[in-house]
Amino acid sequence: MLNKDNDKQLAGKEAVKLVKDGMTIGLGSGSTVNWLLQALGERVQAGLQIKGIPSSRKTERLAKEHGIPLTDLSETTQIDIAIDGADEISPDLTLLKGGGGSLVREKIVDVAANELIIIADGSKVVSQLGEFPLPVEVLPFGWEVTEANIAALDCTPTLRKEKNSPFISDNGNYILDCKFPSIKQPRELHEQLKLIVGVVETGLFCDMTEKVIVVKNGQIEWLTKKDARGNKNE
Ligand code: 5RP
Repeated sequence: MLNKDNDKQLAGKEAVKLVKDGMTIGLGSGSTVNWLLQALGERVQAGLQIKGIPSSRKTERLAKEHGIPLTDLSETTQIDIAIDGADEISPDLTLLKGGGGSLVREKIVDVAANELIIIADGSKVVSQLGEFPLPVEVLPFGWEVTEANIAALDCTPTLRKEKNSPFISDNGNYILDCKFPSIKQPRELHEQLKLIVGVVETGLFCDMTEKVIVVKNGQIEWLTKKDARGNKNE
């Protein structure tokens, strides 16, 4: 297995240790979360009683394959822990997400949780956000107008494609991958983007997590808000 995959798997296994009987778990999306689903499925087969709320159709399908019982936000909005991945993690634990195109549902599930735990391989920790183009979900209607208004914020947006057609999110929307020179003030940028008509949500997750499990070359590190300069917690 590639080093990075091994690190993602270890991060998933470490996060599963936090899950306790009776909890409702927000299930993020992406390849790191897929390892979490496998580890969680094994605990469920061993008798753990939990319910998961998936943040994407893909996660829903995989969770079912692993035998994880599911519920949804129409049944409960009380989520004990959400566990999700990230594309970039800044020193103050601001996240850039949406590489898999699930940012809207991820954000809804993650904000509903009492606690959001992020799992990632070491390549996701960056000194400044923005090397990874920022995913912004937009309405398909008039997306060209929305794109022009976003570009005026000093970035280059690119319509995400899949097999030469626009990528369609689980919500039936488009994704613009927006390359900024760098993202120095994520909250301000998020707020500016949200004011643009046609923008549904951005992949900037500000002040949403206080705990990140990072695994690099098999070494597990917990980053927490108070030591969010990249120091080891314990
Ligand atoms: C999907 C996401 C994922 O959490 C993010 O892309 C990380 O993915 P991976 O675990 O595959 O590296 O935001 O919308």
